[in-house]
Amino acid sequence: MASASACSLQVPAGSLRMLREPCAAKKNEVSRRKKVSFGVRGKAENGGVKQTVDESAGPDLSVTVNGLRFPNPFVIGSGPPGTNYTVMKRAFDEGWGGVIAKTVSLDSSKVVNVTPRYARLYGPNTREVIGWENIELISDRPFETMLEEMRRLKQEYPDRILIASIMEEYNRPAWEEVIERVEETGVDALEINFSCPHGMPERRMGMAMGQDCELLSEVCGWINAKATVPVWAKMTPNITDITEPARRALDAGCEGIAAINTITSVMGINLDTLRPEPCVEGYSTPGGYSSKAVRPIALARVMAIAQMIKKDFPNQNLSLSGIGGVETGNDAAEFILLGSNTVQVCTGVMMHGYPLVKKLNSELQAFMSKHGFTSIEDFRGASLEYFTTHMELVRMQKEAVSVRRSVRKGLASDKDWTGEGFVKETETMVSNS
Ligand SMILES: Cc1cc2nc3c(=O)[nH]c(=O)nc-3n(C[C@H](O)[C@H](O)[C@H](O)COP(=O)(O)O)c2cc1C
Repeated sequence: MASASACSLQVPAGSLRMLREPCAAKKNEVSRRKKVSFGVRGKAENGGVKQTVDESAGPDLSVTVNGLRFPNPFVIGSGPPGTNYTVMKRAFDEGWGGVIAKTVSLDSSKVVNVTPRYARLYGPNTREVIGWENIELISDRPFETMLEEMRRLKQEYPDRILIASIMEEYNRPAWEEVIERVEETGVDALEINFSCPHGMPERRMGMAMGQDCELLSEVCGWINAKATVPVWAKMTPNITDITEPARRALDAGCEGIAAINTITSVMGINLDTLRPEPCVEGYSTPGGYSSKAVRPIALARVMAIAQMIKKDFPNQNLSLSGIGGVETGNDAAEFILLGSNTVQVCTGVMMHGYPLVKKLNSELQAFMSKHGFTSIEDFRGASLEYFTTHMELVRMQKEAVSVRRSVRKGLASDKDWTGEGFVKETETMVSNS
């Protein structure tokens, strides 16, 4: 194991302890009743498991959270890449650490999708996709069919992590039925979709539930009283302070937080037709934004949740799954440096396909080798301590200038901006040029 001091990064002593104190204690009576599910249960008897990732070739990418062992931290995020048996099997065959299936609810007949339901934001003068909007609902497939497919996958891939994503109305018996029937398939954990931004507010589902802390807290109580496997609550970023619902979910017995789901968006207006995108029969409805463009927002939310967990739930075996715009191993490293145990990818798979995981693994290993990290825990949460208040930044900069005589970049005061040199003056104050 590389120690922090062996790393090229100068990480102050103690900083790497963040969010990973060994912990056996469950946080409350509710979660104590849950059985711990172990993802690794030995090899598939039918030999059906194809391990395509050579984990021995570099630093150890495996992650164990809530008693579940993932061969690598890369998890398919709930959405089209986990929508049926065929695609989930493909994900396992390509080597994804885990799969979160497309969100299901009891009555799929209420779910009616439209097409087209995606629209993309391209970079200026390129076809590079920067942002992605969808107005897709949860799974429109019969609940029983999804259960059968999850059962079959767990039978064929017993050593892989399969997580069911579930969503229901404000109705305790309905939640209890979904949980009971989904758990019967052998899934390793549940992710609760408190965050789908479109389609369901009329039924107080998804984001409508996730934005209402009282409602969320009560429903999490029902869920955790019933569930016998770990529960992750998936948060919406469409709220002023994401740490509030995250804290309530953990208080109510959830073992983990996943963040973020998509950000409410209008992709744009077609300037020929004057119609909004994605355009369905000439009309549209606000959707959910994902892909590269959301990553900085997702990182901020993940950072805030990680700080909250560190402060309010110290020494507990809670997990954090970072999501939003991940397409490279370096993107994932950033989420892990901010405290994520696992990293989910949804739109990235829609753009680059399932083999993306091989690139993610090797790029993350290259990052780890560069710094001398031999495991994910070696660097998880290591960047959290470099966030402080603005007031503190002012104090530190004053001190640096006066005590160490360091040279301050950029303009000294707002009075120094000139109209003539405006762009250049802006440039002098960018930190990552
Ligand atoms: C087309 C599409 C469908 C999605 N469907 C679901 C869903 O059913 N349940 C869910 O929890 N999240 C769903 N999501 C959200 C993703 O899981 C993820 O949280 C979000 O897209 C940000 O990650 P990304 O940038 O890697 O896509 C969907 C996203 C997309 C793009």
